[in-house]
Amino acid sequence: MNKSMLSASLLALALAAPLAHAHEAGDIILRAGAITVNPKADSSSVKVDQGPLAGTDLGGKATMDSDTQLGLNFAYMITNNWGIELLAATPFEHDVQLKGTALPAANGKLGSLKHLPPTLSVVYYPLDSKSAFQPYVGAGINYTWIYDESLSSEAKSAGFSNFKAENTWGLAWQVGADYMLTDHVMLNAQVRYIDIDTRATVENNSIAPGTRAKVNVDVDPFVYMVGLGYKF
Ligand code: NI
Repeated sequence: MNKSMLSASLLALALAAPLAHAHEAGDIILRAGAITVNPKADSSSVKVDQGPLAGTDLGGKATMDSDTQLGLNFAYMITNNWGIELLAATPFEHDVQLKGTALPAANGKLGSLKHLPPTLSVVYYPLDSKSAFQPYVGAGINYTWIYDESLSSEAKSAGFSNFKAENTWGLAWQVGADYMLTDHVMLNAQVRYIDIDTRATVENNSIAPGTRAKVNVDVDPFVYMVGLGYKF
């Protein structure tokens, strides 16, 4: 056998070999990995919306730090190319800071909050189901449940109370890829952009009785996940 015949037969063998089947109608895929929510956290200025000072613009902005948790995807292939997917995770916790407001006592760590951002998406896998590499794009609906808002001890001693942030609905976009290591086990990496626009309020009766301030926060995080998947 000469060289070109050898490579031709190797190619034929490779094409005929039973490739790892990926992503066919009826498949259930479970993925797990490290998931990071990195908020963009653009916000409006902080405004007094209740109490004798209502209408006062305190300026400044609110920011949030990032957090990493255990992420889970439950995916179901409806056809060889289309699937639905639910994103779940252990609860995220973010510190909330106020910066540059006209109230020096309000600047710094206001507190923290927890949230769960379940997201249901429709996902499109453009490649043939025999491909071991399966990139995908998806779009879906996110509900972000925000809970356990708590004030820092500094904010409490500055007279703040009753910190709250509203739950939100928004659209979510994603790109990702699976790479089949075996017929069942895959590597996965994915990035999402989730539109999370919330409104946070906090009271302070020591400035003036009944004073409440509000800030509209476009949390709008990029969400990164890297992990392993298993196809049933
Ligand atoms: Ni937004």
